[in-house]
Parts: sequence; C-alpha cells; structure tokens
Amino acid sequence: MATEKITREQWAVSDGFIAKIKEDNANFAVKNGRTRLAHTETYGCQQNVNDTERIRGMLAKAGFEFTDKAEEADLVIYNTCAVRENAEQRVFGRLGILKHIKENAKPDMLVAVCGCMVQQEHIAEKIRKVHDHVDLIFGTHALWRMPELLYKAMNENGVVVDITRSDGSIAEDVPILRDKDEKAWVSIMYGCNNFCTYCIVPYVRGRERSRTPEDILSEVKCLVKSGTTEISLLGQNVNSYGKDLGLDIDFADLLRMINDIDGVKRIRFMTSHPKDLSDKLIYTIRDCDKVCKQLHLPVQAGSNRILKEMNRHYTKEQYLEKIDKIKKEIPGITLTTDIIVGFPTETTEDFKETLDIIRYVRYDSIFSFIYSRREGTPAAKLDFVLTDEEIHRNFNELLEVQNQICLEKNLEYKDRIETILVDGSSKTNKSLMSGRTDGGKIVNFKGSPDLCGKYVQVKITNPKQWSLEGELI
Ligand code: 5AD
Ligand code: SF4
Repeated sequence: MATEKITREQWAVSDGFIAKIKEDNANFAVKNGRTRLAHTETYGCQQNVNDTERIRGMLAKAGFEFTDKAEEADLVIYNTCAVRENAEQRVFGRLGILKHIKENAKPDMLVAVCGCMVQQEHIAEKIRKVHDHVDLIFGTHALWRMPELLYKAMNENGVVVDITRSDGSIAEDVPILRDKDEKAWVSIMYGCNNFCTYCIVPYVRGRERSRTPEDILSEVKCLVKSGTTEISLLGQNVNSYGKDLGLDIDFADLLRMINDIDGVKRIRFMTSHPKDLSDKLIYTIRDCDKVCKQLHLPVQAGSNRILKEMNRHYTKEQYLEKIDKIKKEIPGITLTTDIIVGFPTETTEDFKETLDIIRYVRYDSIFSFIYSRREGTPAAKLDFVLTDEEIHRNFNELLEVQNQICLEKNLEYKDRIETILVDGSSKTNKSLMSGRTDGGKIVNFKGSPDLCGKYVQVKITNPKQWSLEGELI
C-alpha cells in the first residue's frame, strides 16, 4: 500500500474538535475555578514516548494542564505496549487501581487506554468486559483522531472505541509537546515489515511507511531553532527508511542531510536491523562528524537454527562479519544489542551460542528479555524444549557474563576526557549532574543545574558497572 499523508482537511476536522474541547475546558475552569488536568503514562519503547508527546501536544492545545499524579487528574491516558506480557499486566494493574479511585473519589474522571496493546482486538475486548470504567480506547492508527474521540467520550455515555487500521497513513500536523529542550526524538518512519516470528509490532503498528525527507528536515530545523542540539531518529528498522518513497534516498542519505543542518550537534538513531545494515551506512556513521559513534544492533539469538525460526534473515556468521567491519571502520564505537532468552524450541546448546556472541562482540550493554508468548504471532504455535526454571537459569547466566563485560568496558574509560551533553540530575544521586557521552554512556559529576543543555568536558575518575563518574574540567 502506498504511503498517504493524512490530508490537511482530515487534520482540520481533528483540530476543530481540539477547539471544541478547549471551549468545554474553559467553561469548566470558570465553573470550578481550576483548569482541567490530564495525566499521561507511557509504557514500552521510544516510539510510544514520541506518540505520547503528540498526545500531550494535542491536549495542551485543547487547554489541559498536566499532573504527575493520576489521582488528581480529570483525564488519565495510558499509552500501552504489547511487546511483552509483563507490560500488559502492569496496565491491567493500573486500571484496577484507577477503578477504585474513580468509584470512591473522582466519579467524573475520564480514563483512556491507547497504543499497541489495545490495537489487538482481544485486549480491547477484555478491557471493555473487565474494566467498564474505561471511557475511551484507541489504537496506534487512530492517534491523530484522538481529539474527536475524546470529545465524544467527554459528551457521551458508554465507551468510545476506535481500533480500526489505516495502514498506509502518516499524520504530519499533530502538535508535539516535548519534555526536554536539548534532546528530541524524531520519528522518521512508522510500522515494520519484518515479521520476526516472536514479535507483535507488525500487527499493531502496521506496514512500514517513511516520512518524507522534507517533513523530517523541517521538523529538525524547527527543533534547532527552539534550542535542541541532539536529535534521535526513530523507526522500528531505520535501515529500510525510504524504500516506500521511491525517491532514491536511503537512511544513510538522510543522516548526511541532517548532519549538514547548522545547529545540530549530535545525531543518534534506533533501531537498525542487521540484515539491512549496509557498508554505505557504516561509512556514513564513520564520516559524519555529528553522527554519534554508537550502534544498537539487535542480534536476538546466537544459534543459526533459532535465528531462522525467528525469521531474522541473517546467520550468526553474517552478523559477526558486520560487527567486525563496524569495529574496523569505527574503532571505539559503542555497541549495544537486544537478546531474547527462551525462544520456543531453544535448547541450552542454542543458548550457549548466544553467550558466544556476547563474549565475542563485548557489547557496552545489552537489553535482555525472556521470551513472552504473543497471541497471533507464528512463534506462539511453537513448543518449548526448556522448562521455565532452565530458561531463568540461562537468563541469569547471560546477565552475569554481560555484567562483567559492562564493567570491563567501562573501566577502559578511566582518566579519559569525554564531552557530555548535560541533561539533568543523576537518577541515583540527586546531588550529581548527569549526561551522556558521544557513545551514549551515562556520566555523573558534581556541577550546577544551570549546566543543563550544555556540552561540558568531564574527566572520568570512577568508572562503575552501569555508569561513569567524573570531574568537570
Ligand atoms: N518476547 C520477548 N522479547 C521480545 N521482543 C520483541 N518481542 C518479544 C517477545 N515476544 C524484544 C526484542 C526486540 C525488543 C524491542 O523487544 O529483543 O528487539
Ligand atoms: Fe519486531 Fe522484528 Fe520488526 Fe523489530 S524488526 S519491530 S523485532 S518484527
């Protein structure tokens, strides 16, 4: 299906509903002496974070203010993730708590659930049946229609549901409200065509569709004007960017175009599928001064049999060949990956091959997951060879091996001077400021809060397992 933009006329309808909600909110404020408050919670990946920024953009335009506390809010929106079962369980848990609050303290509270989880029909149905205090359910494809749906939910009894699919479309005009000034996520494409057999994403986010380079560049230029210097480009598989546009522009070309924009200082991107990682992209990362020397390259598993069962379209040998090439061309690049442990049919011998990869590549960090069965995916029909206990044992072994590598890799940073973009106070020690190196490593150091958003030089004095500590110079 060809990619179509949501037309200006279609967006004008949504914008009209934003105006209506704004009027309603103004009347509410006069009557109650306070502004209506919205609370948003995001589960899952950066794509969801970016979608929530759009939701907040629309809500801000409609006159809502925001609160961090669900129990204070007039409108609660959960933007959900379907990638693993535990993310879904957390949302069901939160909904249970909200039911209690709504029944006992806030009968007028509106509750909305949106995103990947409810794009699955069986989940939307379950929420309708079990959580009748939910007023609005809308899937990933209906994001730009949220104003109309919300207006209906505010004015009608009963639940409003929109989980229809509109696979080929992109909405360009939805306003965005971002949390941070110095760094921004920019979606360059939506959806995924890869159908890895464990993964629900292609079913809930639809087919791959790329934004045009003009739309992306104009968003980046706009961000730079408002003070952003670090841009992170987002897509499920950025390496297939542009294939649907018919413009002869690929992801490497896009990186170069963004590299040429004055005012951009750092460019990051995720995620890259190994099968589509070209030499051209490796050279582009190497040659573009603003493209951070960091690559997230999910391997998922080490055994060729499992990789085939996963429909990943590469072998362990091909993956490692790419890693060798990257390390040769870009020495010192920070490498990270995703690993799934306990995929159906995986044996402990298969798992040992995952360990081999970890030991060979020596990633700076990994994101590891125990396989979670997703209804409707091909892998859901496969049987397990290992017991839960064996899978957990393997998972713990993976963590142990990787933890040691993380520490060793970080120790290499001792006494190095790194340029850090300061982005706030440290999560673990509020008296320290924090930021990231070009390679994406977290550095904590003593400094004043007004360094936020600035690039500073820090000498690494105390490398730890999960972060580096240093002194401002
Ligand atoms: N179970 C466990 N992990 C999964 N991922 C995707 N689907 C599943 C699943 N069903 C992991 C993959 C992917 C990351 C975003 O989430 O490792 O790269
Ligand atoms: Fe899921 Fe595979 Fe697409 Fe990544 S590339 S979103 S793992 S189907």
